[in-house]
Amino acid sequence: MAAQIQEIVDEIVAAMAQESERGDVATYIPGLANVSPAHFGMAVIGADGSVALGGDAEQPFSIQSISKVFALTMALGKVGDQLWRRVGREPSGNAFNSIVQLEAEHGIPRNPFINAGAIVVADVNLSGHMPREAIGELIRFIRFLADDETIVVDDAIARSETETGFRNVALANYMRAFGNIRHSVELVTGVYFHQCAISMSCLQLARAGRYLMLDGLQPEAGRVVSARRARRINALMLTCGHYDASGDFAFRIGMPGKSGVGGGILAVVPGKASIAVWSPGLNASGNSQLGTLALERLAQATGWSVFSARA
Ligand code: DON
Repeated sequence: MAAQIQEIVDEIVAAMAQESERGDVATYIPGLANVSPAHFGMAVIGADGSVALGGDAEQPFSIQSISKVFALTMALGKVGDQLWRRVGREPSGNAFNSIVQLEAEHGIPRNPFINAGAIVVADVNLSGHMPREAIGELIRFIRFLADDETIVVDDAIARSETETGFRNVALANYMRAFGNIRHSVELVTGVYFHQCAISMSCLQLARAGRYLMLDGLQPEAGRVVSARRARRINALMLTCGHYDASGDFAFRIGMPGKSGVGGGILAVVPGKASIAVWSPGLNASGNSQLGTLALERLAQATGWSVFSARA
């Protein structure tokens, strides 16, 4: 099984190297603009602990919105289902940074994976803390999930987004006007920008995602969340993890997944695999062009899908 998956990963890496349509690297965060679109990496960790790596699987990149999965898990640990009074659980059908629904929906973001929702989650994680402590707690949680103490925030990326993240500041201000942000906008967006600037490799991300393939269990340390919570986080990833392209991602790939504008995607096949891919060029929806294609190839080759009995 492990050898077979490694063979599939090797084939995908070779095929991706031939692709000329690689999408466009995100430039709206200046710190991300200089990353080469030539990169491609992939890590597949099986439920049996087997690991298949390909391409730049061990090179760290900016995880950006993938951090929203771990921040959501942490916030649910703090406030449980009360979180859903402040954030919805519906796909938005809009871009990740859209403000349009917030007025009609009284400052309650559609879901925790669009930027507005993740900013509310950051506000929850900030409660009782200074921003530095809240980020420290999240980093420690991610290190624990990945069983890897080397994971850090890239301060240059955090600074770059702090200087240019006007839309996120606008979203936070707008929600604060509705009473759905409790801390100062500067502190909350500070936490949010730093969580997005965490650097991880595909291998580290796939390791951090193992609890979502194993009904809430982290293999080295045991239970992280209940099986029900893991299932629900997976459901949100499937329905909202790729913003207005979530339906297409479910159609093409059929796995819960979360993308980031750094070009990474974390995908989970419960009971089977935790997968991370990275290629910095993005499609029109802001999701990795080759990362999506690579996952589609992997799904075809393995039969892995939450909608299939074949896997
Ligand atoms: O807030 C932002 O715009 C970025 N820090 C994160 C956005 C992101 O990763 C969207 N995902 N594809």
